[in-house]
Amino acid sequence: MPLTRKAYRAAILHSIADPAEVGIEASYEYFEDGLLVVENGRISALGHASELLPGLPAGVQVEHYPDALITPGFIDTHIHLPQTGMVGAYGEQLLDWLNTYTFPCESQFADPDHANEVADIFIKELLRNGTTTALVFGSVHPQSVNAFFAAAEKLDLRMIAGKVMMDRNAPDYLTDTAESGYQESKALIERWHGKGRLHYAVTPRFAPTSTPEQLTLAGQLLTEYPDLYMQTHISENLQEIQWVKELFPERKGYLDVYDHYQLLGERSVFAHGVHLCDDECARLAETGSAVAFCPTSNFFLGSGLFNLPMAEKHKLNVGLGTDVGGGTSFSLLQTLNEAYKVMQLQGARLSPFKSLYLATLGGARALRLEDKIGTLHPGTDADFLVLDYNATPLLSYRLKQANSIAETLFVLMTLGDDRTVLQTFAAGQQVHQR
Ligand code: GUN
Ligand code: ZN
Repeated sequence: MPLTRKAYRAAILHSIADPAEVGIEASYEYFEDGLLVVENGRISALGHASELLPGLPAGVQVEHYPDALITPGFIDTHIHLPQTGMVGAYGEQLLDWLNTYTFPCESQFADPDHANEVADIFIKELLRNGTTTALVFGSVHPQSVNAFFAAAEKLDLRMIAGKVMMDRNAPDYLTDTAESGYQESKALIERWHGKGRLHYAVTPRFAPTSTPEQLTLAGQLLTEYPDLYMQTHISENLQEIQWVKELFPERKGYLDVYDHYQLLGERSVFAHGVHLCDDECARLAETGSAVAFCPTSNFFLGSGLFNLPMAEKHKLNVGLGTDVGGGTSFSLLQTLNEAYKVMQLQGARLSPFKSLYLATLGGARALRLEDKIGTLHPGTDADFLVLDYNATPLLSYRLKQANSIAETLFVLMTLGDDRTVLQTFAAGQQVHQR
């Protein structure tokens, strides 16, 4: 393959550490007039334009954005493909919302044409919003995952997904069995896991919709293949937690159910965790598991406020999740806008640099992919964004009043959304242009 090399000149910002561990100032790198050099899908250099431009070989094209910010692509650690058509479903909290809206909507994925159509819409929506990697729930139907991975593969995206396993407490038209869920997951793993930049996640929906037999087989899959992910939900809603106690009276609590079936580990991501207790956070951290913080969903479904300071105390890996369709936006900028308010309501702060960390490097660490995505370090995948300071008249005017990159970043996260994302690049290729 011929060498392809291209350079991008703009203000450039990336997170390089967790502000909770190193302090805010040591957590990021900012180049007011920076240059990002991309070679064959990877980043080959990052620095000040004045230092890098003289050494750039003749003929390398330089794209210049005088009024924009380059950041790493955003990472969504929790989202549901088959809920694309039901964002904003009125009136219910989690369990009634699932029965009234979610299950009927997901049932449409029995039709492979429908799965293909929604997978296309879904991936376009991710990229329009600057999300270059997502950890994705399919429906119970294997074709949901086939449709998603086929569409992601065409664009060489780094994506993680799995078919939902659920063999009880859901309508017959939407359940598998312990055995069929295992076999179908296995076939999908064989077909997709490790192909290009795709990874498979074993996906028991949540403890109430899996029998002990199914949870056992989910754990078994994790031992049969290296580097598989596991994704599920935990402690999102008080009624849900009560139900888990009734279904698994022999276990100490909700997390202990998953622990018992050996579903905790370095590639395990638990969505929500709004009502986790101190001991559970400690156990998640000890096993290297991660939590997906999903503020728009937690507000929309009236679930509660995620306790980020408690997670930080335990050095628990936390990523950010949109949780569409419980969440109300594909935009991680809008998700951060709501995350800030979650902290405000608990008398705490969310600094813009912690927010940037959550949307990029924090997500990458939650997924154990920090050597490939989440920063702009040379050697990593060239998955990055161009954010437009003039995306809307208000943003443009407001940013003219900003006196620091901290303020600019915070305003981008308050006023920003899909309109802010001018271009999205994945593996060095432009995959979205506004
Ligand atoms: N718990 C089990 N299934 C779901 C789901 O689809 N969305 C959310 N938010 N929580 C869940
Ligand atoms: Zn969810």
